[in-house]
Amino acid sequence: MAKPIRAAITGMGTAVPEKVLTNLDFEKFLDTSDEWITQRTGIKERRIVSDGQTTATLGTQAARKALDDAHLQSRDVELIICATVTPEMVFPATACFIQDALGVKDIPAFDINAACSGFVYGLTVASKFIETGTYKKVLLVGADTLTRFSDYTDRGSCVLFGDGAGAVVLEPTDEPGKGILYNVLHADGSGWEFIYVPAGGSRTPPSHQTIDNRDHYVKMRGRDVYKFAVEKMQWLMEDCMKHCNLTVDDVDMVVPHQVNSRIIESAAEKFHFPMEKLYMNIDRYGNTSAASIPLAMEGARREGKIGPGSLILVVAFGAGLTWAGSVIRL
Ligand code: ACO
Repeated sequence: MAKPIRAAITGMGTAVPEKVLTNLDFEKFLDTSDEWITQRTGIKERRIVSDGQTTATLGTQAARKALDDAHLQSRDVELIICATVTPEMVFPATACFIQDALGVKDIPAFDINAACSGFVYGLTVASKFIETGTYKKVLLVGADTLTRFSDYTDRGSCVLFGDGAGAVVLEPTDEPGKGILYNVLHADGSGWEFIYVPAGGSRTPPSHQTIDNRDHYVKMRGRDVYKFAVEKMQWLMEDCMKHCNLTVDDVDMVVPHQVNSRIIESAAEKFHFPMEKLYMNIDRYGNTSAASIPLAMEGARREGKIGPGSLILVVAFGAGLTWAGSVIRL
């Protein structure tokens, strides 16, 4: 019998803007404090795009690094997927801009809009194309520039977000136990009002009034999102471990969406996971939405916390509402 084909991550790359916005910077123009932001979120600073930097430029930079890491050329790629909620334009897809910047012609390229769960949704989609033998070299990018959509007069939301991009290359493997072992995806559209950008779409096209109302910026019910994120992070960890028959000892690292250090700590506590097994870089980058998981994965690898053979659990949750998880043997 033929061995099952799975998708394995063969390359990773990231890109973040150089410009840093610290909590102390916020104190200069907002009624907030470094102490409040640090205690409530774990965030100390975030990276923000400058003129000329966009979701696609960051995504392309990360993609190039992931291709180098996988020892591939742009022309080897057979499919490009970009997870983002802050696209280059309403259309065409940001994945098409990345394709063009990479100089690749005539391969499919499309976006996934699942907010902070977008990269994990992308892992699932990419792995299905590989498992069915449709494509052998898939480039998956998670890129967001939420600071472009942040209302810097709303202290309840703007302090959370940062910009960045991460990319992975996925290729088939028949090595036993390696690759993406499990995926789970969920959505509940009835919670769309927990976090959204009201204007600019077909429901509320741009107008002077939408500009005056600041309706092109993120609106968020922070408390509700917090409760949702706590519940779903715990549910996802339990589901992934149950489905793959894993104990805490089997898991080398949980790579969670970098949403809020308190949310991550409460999940660790619930499952008696030592905190060293939950990767966090939220202090440096804030919440980077679809870029959060690949930035964290690459960070964990760079810091020597994971490497070939490591078993990792990735869990993400975000606007939609959406939530998704994967179990991966690197
Ligand atoms: N600085 C100072 N005070 C603030 C700030 C701020 N930046 N933001 C809110 N406050 C105030 C509020 O006005 C409120 O004051 P009041 O009691 O006088 O009315 C007080 O702090 C408490 O506000 P809460 O919203 O109840 O504070 P909470 O402890 O819930 O923390 C936070 C708010 C940090 C937004 C938290 O709810 C959170 O992290 N939620 C998750 C949101 C999120 O991560 N969204 C990201 C996108 S979706 C995703 O990634 C899952």
